[in-house]
Amino acid sequence: MEPREFPNLTVLSHPLVDDKLGRLRDAATSHKEFRELCTELATLLAYPATADLETRETRVATPVDWAAAKSLVSVPLLVPILRAGLGLVPGFHALMPQAQVAHVGMYRDPDSLQAVAYYANLPDDLRGRRAFVLDPMLATGGSAVATIDLLIDRGARATDIVVITLIAAPEGCGVVAEAHPDVKVFTCALDRHLNAHGYIVPGLGDAGDRLFGRGAGRKPETHGRKPEAQGGRAT
Ligand code: PRP
Ligand code: URA
Repeated sequence: MEPREFPNLTVLSHPLVDDKLGRLRDAATSHKEFRELCTELATLLAYPATADLETRETRVATPVDWAAAKSLVSVPLLVPILRAGLGLVPGFHALMPQAQVAHVGMYRDPDSLQAVAYYANLPDDLRGRRAFVLDPMLATGGSAVATIDLLIDRGARATDIVVITLIAAPEGCGVVAEAHPDVKVFTCALDRHLNAHGYIVPGLGDAGDRLFGRGAGRKPETHGRKPEAQGGRAT
């Protein structure tokens, strides 16, 4: 389904997605089940989100005869946004084990809600690469836009970038659509709105904490220094 106000957004509508999403949202769901549900939902999202990958004609020898076949032309790149994006990698790898993974670290400043980049380990040249930006939550859209900007800086085309998210807020969808109208976004749900703390309502809470527990600090450090002491941007 494509909500009319966001032509670049696809909201998956499927009984299995709805069932899993309900369990994902449930505050009583354990970390273990939460991680499993993220994996399963990521696989379900990967299916439509990869429908236009380019293939080339090939042929294989079956035990009986030659058969026409198709194989993917290029190796897709997965770009999970640390931390919570890591929860979507296994579900994508289930369908595309050959996909390469490049990591981007972003945290949201709790006061300004601005995305702060603290880590980026990407291929130098992304020309012609299909890149899937993985992050379970699209809230203000700041983390997604900052990540898309990093990919475009390295030569990726907006039409080759796809954002994969489990729950999206209208505010974030608007921000991504305005900054990068050619970037497609796939989600399992378009929720109501953001609250005063920038959390998606009804959402599922803090995706990183629900995946990994409250083991991380609110502001990641790089080389023992807070990112803002380095100018706030990672290179
Ligand atoms: C969360 C989430 C997204 C971001 C979304 O990350 O995983 O990356 O917020 O918010 P936005 O659309 O307003 O930018 P968080 O900063 O909590 O970091 P974490 O994944 O390390 O917990
Ligand atoms: N990040 C989260 O983890 N959850 C939200 O609701 C918004 C941003």
